[in-house]
Amino acid sequence: MEYLKPNKIYFGRSEAKMLEIEPSSVALSFWSPPYFVGKNYEREETFETWQSSLRQVIHNHSQVLKPGGFMVINLADILCFKDEYMPKIQALNISNQKCKVTREMVLTAREQHPDYNRYQLAELLGCSEQTIDRRLNGNNIRGGKYQTQTRVKLVGNYLEKYAYEVGIYLYDKRVWIKDPSWVNSQWTSNTLKAVSEYEDLYIFWKPGEYIIDRRKLTKDEWKSWGSRGVWYINSVRANNDHEAKFPEELATRVIRLFSEVGDLVLDPFIGSGTTAISAMKQERNYIGIDKESKYVELAKKHIGESSSWQKELNFT
Ligand SMILES: C[S@@+](CC[C@H](N)C(=O)[O-])C[C@H]1O[C@@H](n2cnc3c(N)ncnc32)[C@H](O)[C@@H]1O
Repeated sequence: MEYLKPNKIYFGRSEAKMLEIEPSSVALSFWSPPYFVGKNYEREETFETWQSSLRQVIHNHSQVLKPGGFMVINLADILCFKDEYMPKIQALNISNQKCKVTREMVLTAREQHPDYNRYQLAELLGCSEQTIDRRLNGNNIRGGKYQTQTRVKLVGNYLEKYAYEVGIYLYDKRVWIKDPSWVNSQWTSNTLKAVSEYEDLYIFWKPGEYIIDRRKLTKDEWKSWGSRGVWYINSVRANNDHEAKFPEELATRVIRLFSEVGDLVLDPFIGSGTTAISAMKQERNYIGIDKESKYVELAKKHIGESSSWQKELNFT
């Protein structure tokens, strides 16, 4: 069998394509999987297919990682998805109440006129029948109380389990603090949930010797991020050509810490090519895989642009 050549981007699903990589050749695999949050490239996924895909990809690492190699997974350890079995209870958002009619007023009116329906109560109190229902039931009868709830679920434990199944161990964890994503502010303004502003990095290790070279970072770099559990890096502002890019700085820190010059770095969910670009700049080799041909082309384009920049930089 001919193995995948380094420094190329491949089209295919990593569940299968990764098995064409030379066994025990990858020093570091760094990736961000689909988050199952409704992006275009994960439209067909269910929670079950999402799990089995990740499980297979993680299992493949036991073949391709070299002993002592690392697998670093970036994801927000919290999945949010619609769960039709969750109780449909809507928050009573009293800050949105524009009408002065209170719940107590509606209850008193109903006590005095037990035979009135909500339309009659509305006429009596000078408000809409919707307000009557909201005050009595804490719901918006136009649909709020029928809306499926969003379930929030931790998923880092799944990754740990899948890795452990094939003898790959959780080694460490870091938190990446990004800027608050105000896209979700609509959601948070009607709940008590926080705006999404951090993600996790799960660092796994395949047993075997690995190199610790304190000279690979400067003293200041060790102090400011190399030995720190929390990394402050702004997220990518312009997700115009890919929906979910991570910043090059994130890939660069991971690559500098967990691999050496000349190593092979894999990203089985390469997207726009960020990991490959960073690997190239850090003088590592790379292999990237994506199931969408348009992203394979995009990654190749970005890598081409970046390498011509580098040539110019080296030239001048
Ligand atoms: C979160 S994005 C990665 C973005 C990337 N880190 C970047 O900076 O551009 C996940 C990518 O994985 C791809 N993908 C999803 N499932 C896949 C699979 N089973 N095999 C290969 N690629 C997959 C998607 O098409 C998407 O481009």
